[in-house]
Amino acid sequence: MDLQPTPQGVVAGSIPLFAGHPAHELLPISTVRTLVDSVWSQPDVVRLFNYGDEQGNQQLIDFLSARLQRSENLSICRENLMIIGGSTWGVEMITHHLTGPGDTILVDAPSYRDALHIFRDAKLDAQAISIDGGGVIVDEMERRLRDLASRKRLPKFYYVVPNFQNPTGITLGRERRQAIVDLSKAYGFLIIEDDVYRDIRFVNDLPPSFYALSGGEKVLRLGTFSKTLAPGLRIGWLIGPAETVKRFVNSGMLRMGGGANPFTAAIVADFCSSGNWEEHVAWLRNQYKDRRDCALAALDAAMPHSAHWTKPEGGYFIWLRLPENVTVDEVEDRAKAENIYFASGKGFFVDPEDGAHHIRLSFSYVPVDDLQTGISILGRVIKQLEGR
Ligand SMILES: Cc1ncc(COP(=O)(O)O)c(C=O)c1O
Repeated sequence: MDLQPTPQGVVAGSIPLFAGHPAHELLPISTVRTLVDSVWSQPDVVRLFNYGDEQGNQQLIDFLSARLQRSENLSICRENLMIIGGSTWGVEMITHHLTGPGDTILVDAPSYRDALHIFRDAKLDAQAISIDGGGVIVDEMERRLRDLASRKRLPKFYYVVPNFQNPTGITLGRERRQAIVDLSKAYGFLIIEDDVYRDIRFVNDLPPSFYALSGGEKVLRLGTFSKTLAPGLRIGWLIGPAETVKRFVNSGMLRMGGGANPFTAAIVADFCSSGNWEEHVAWLRNQYKDRRDCALAALDAAMPHSAHWTKPEGGYFIWLRLPENVTVDEVEDRAKAENIYFASGKGFFVDPEDGAHHIRLSFSYVPVDDLQTGISILGRVIKQLEGR
């Protein structure tokens, strides 16, 4: 390697429009530093350097339960919530415990690339269901379920990013959520609700979560501090039926290593309890909204009429559809030559060819000047390729 990658996968000196990371200037590191000092000065701080309670930091569990009650009117008991090392940990743990090689699951087409990786590692048969502007197409899901039932291949779960989906930014509508809850009951599969972008919203209201609609049955919901605090702290949470949470808490991994990241969980718990988190989230929403607006304006100015893109109301991503005669591979080659990196649509599909004309653009990481420059260069490259 002649170039030094900076944060995960970012090539120094490039414009990384692929990076679904929070921008460095949006990480509240000086507040966290103050909290580290305050946690450090607690008389029993040494316990945070030992193995932690398997279910995770109790102060944080209580804070999150109260917040869910306050903001969504959800009654969450202690036994319904555990602290995990980020949503990724949750997806891996659920996959490990609730599926075996060859099992069927349902995913969106497109779906979150790194979750598809986990499912591939576990040798699952991921059945992809198309989405449109309102999220997954329920009729198609129902047809697929009927077919799978006739072959005795019913899915173990449906994995979904319901709000501001990665990669498209699309939010799944309320009626579709309800219809999917009904299907999950009829066909006996779980819903894995990976809700990492919920708090990065530029609108006031969101449809109720699957967890709320189902009354907490047959749904495992994941949340994280990666998008609203810092991914490097590796703290998130899982909500689910008490018996499933108990099973995870009693799993070999937690028995062996204890609960998630006791030291950083204590810092996060103080960040939350002091009111800093809510304040930071409110500020972040404006910051990301400005970035989203800037990206949309740059797309309007740079792209040919034959390109189309989503207008997300939250999250980190915009999904761009290229003109018919332009492929993502061609754009990637030319963009890389100009030091612009984006996420190829191919990674987000079970069948990569389905993403051959798509690009995921992230507006979360790069400064607005780079966002404008990067999109403007991409627009030029795409126009050149279209006019060949
Ligand atoms: C849909 C989705 N799930 C999970 C993650 C990773 O979350 P965490 O850092 O909490 O593991 C991401 C990050 O990009 C994501 O987009």
